Amino acid sequence: MAVTFKPLKGDDFAAEAGGVDISHPLDATDIAVIEKGMDKYAVLVFRNAKPLEREAHMRFTQYFGELEEAYQVPQAGGAGTRRLAEGLGDISNLTQDGKLMARDDRRRLYNLGNLLWHSDSSFKAVPAKYSMLAAHVVPPEGAGGATQIADMRAAWDTLDPATQKLVRDMVTEHSLLHSRAVLGFGDFTPEERERYRPVQQRLVRRHPGSHRLSLFLSAHIGQILGWPQPEALALIRELTEHATQRERVYAHEWRVGDLLVWDNRTTMHRATRFDDQTYPRDMRRTTLTDVASTLEQAA
Ligand code: OGA
Ligand code: MN
Repeated sequence: MAVTFKPLKGDDFAAEAGGVDISHPLDATDIAVIEKGMDKYAVLVFRNAKPLEREAHMRFTQYFGELEEAYQVPQAGGAGTRRLAEGLGDISNLTQDGKLMARDDRRRLYNLGNLLWHSDSSFKAVPAKYSMLAAHVVPPEGAGGATQIADMRAAWDTLDPATQKLVRDMVTEHSLLHSRAVLGFGDFTPEERERYRPVQQRLVRRHPGSHRLSLFLSAHIGQILGWPQPEALALIRELTEHATQRERVYAHEWRVGDLLVWDNRTTMHRATRFDDQTYPRDMRRTTLTDVASTLEQAA
């Protein structure tokens, strides 16, 4: 059976993939078709009958590149043990023993940064390629917790020519400390401050598969090189508002078993609010690293 794509937003942003069972090994043809699908749509949804087990999740991810290291946010005052096995990022509201995190849990407050529009790992010198988020437990229908994804190629295409010219060669600084500070979270250890020193990224990048330009925005951006910071942050905010208008956003309403794959090079995403003191939401993420810093890539 051949892999199929059903577009979900316009004709080239987000599609539901069918005709393939990703819980089993895939052949080279299917893998190539899926990568081409990612080049075109930037977001793919795979609806599975059951939550993707770790082995299948890791195997499917590694067809498309090299895994990035999953960093676990420590609990206040210590390392704490992981709820999930190596390789899976824990995007849940659960503690190691599967209980809902308390409202003031440090990891919860830190994770609330996901409510801001961002591109995963844009604060790393070599940022992320794809993220693959698997739904294991989701809040009941209507209770919130959708994931929204914005098309940053369309954001570039629809920018007025004068602004395109202004931003075309800009270099920005990204730091996780910045996106957390925006929400008033500044509770970082000296080790974390060192780990999250700002990195530079191009603001406009070209996708190697589609050759389309896109805006590389993220909540982690705290500066534009050579600009006064308030002026820089005002422009970043204006661009972010432009990029995240409804007509360029796909909102994924989760079902258990879904795997949502997005290309961090051409999209931004954010979590949306739900009552996390009442409902468990257990999502597990693998992430692929890109091949080089955007500064080293052709503009
Ligand atoms: C992520 C993320 C959003 C969500 O996993 O990188 O930002 O809806 N998740 O959980
Ligand atoms: Mn994210």
